[in-house]
Amino acid sequence: MPAPILSFKKVSKSFGRVKILDDVEFSVAPGQLLGLAGENGAGKTTLLKCMLDFCSFDSGAIEIKGMPSTRPSARACLTFLPERFTPPWFLTGREFIRATRQISGSDWDDQSVLSTFADLDLAPSCLDKPVRTFSKGMTQKLGLAACFLSRKELFVLDEPMSGLDPSARVHVKKMLQRLKNDGKSLVFTSHSLADIDEICDDMVVLHCGSVAYSGSPGMLLERQGEPSLERAFLKCIESNVHGR
Ligand SMILES: Nc1ncnc2c1ncn2[C@@H]1O[C@H](COP(=O)(O)OP(=O)(O)OP(=O)(O)O)[C@@H](O)[C@H]1O
Ligand SMILES: [Mg+2]
Repeated sequence: MPAPILSFKKVSKSFGRVKILDDVEFSVAPGQLLGLAGENGAGKTTLLKCMLDFCSFDSGAIEIKGMPSTRPSARACLTFLPERFTPPWFLTGREFIRATRQISGSDWDDQSVLSTFADLDLAPSCLDKPVRTFSKGMTQKLGLAACFLSRKELFVLDEPMSGLDPSARVHVKKMLQRLKNDGKSLVFTSHSLADIDEICDDMVVLHCGSVAYSGSPGMLLERQGEPSLERAFLKCIESNVHGR
């Protein structure tokens, strides 16, 4: 078993008196694609924010390549798309991509940019338009393009498919599946269990801040004795006694 690229070890966090994360524990191996599912408010985004050091946590540890995730050098291997991606309104598509390439230490490369845009079905003309004129889906595609162009090892995407039309979803799913062949790792949140089933080897179900299930989508079906992932998910969270 290779050492995990990412591990959550008994991570707990409260906002005031409300416990949001309770002893969350799971890990992601290099090359693994993992889907994080859970109801609204289950704690998925908070868990990712803890990992990115956007907020602190109360106990436990989060490690990236064996280093505490609070260390900026530990996070250098990852790229992140937030739940509500809003690029600076005053930039054009080109300026945004150029800035993200500079941050990750790579130069502008016409061929990669245009082929990534084509993969995402994003028109090259978007490069010269101000991002404030983009539709929601175009904005989401721009954020995804920046992630794919970063060529980082670990992709952390909070609801990457949100706001995308059916054909864009097909494109993005293909790109996410391709990450595995490129030896990249992925953690993404989604409310579409079908997407998780299609893309991932493994899934984690977070329920009221605790891990209700960790394993393959197929095993969740088997364990709950259900033919549909949605029904299995429902049974799983209904029987989770550890949640807040
Ligand atoms: N800054 C904050 N202060 C207080 N409570 C917060 C804060 N951020 C999140 N919460 C609470 O933490 C809980 C988990 O929120 P979180 O955004 O992590 O859920 P989620 O699983 O990502 O939900 P969704 O599927 O709707 O995106 C919610 O009850 C939310 O109200
Ligand atoms: Mg969220």
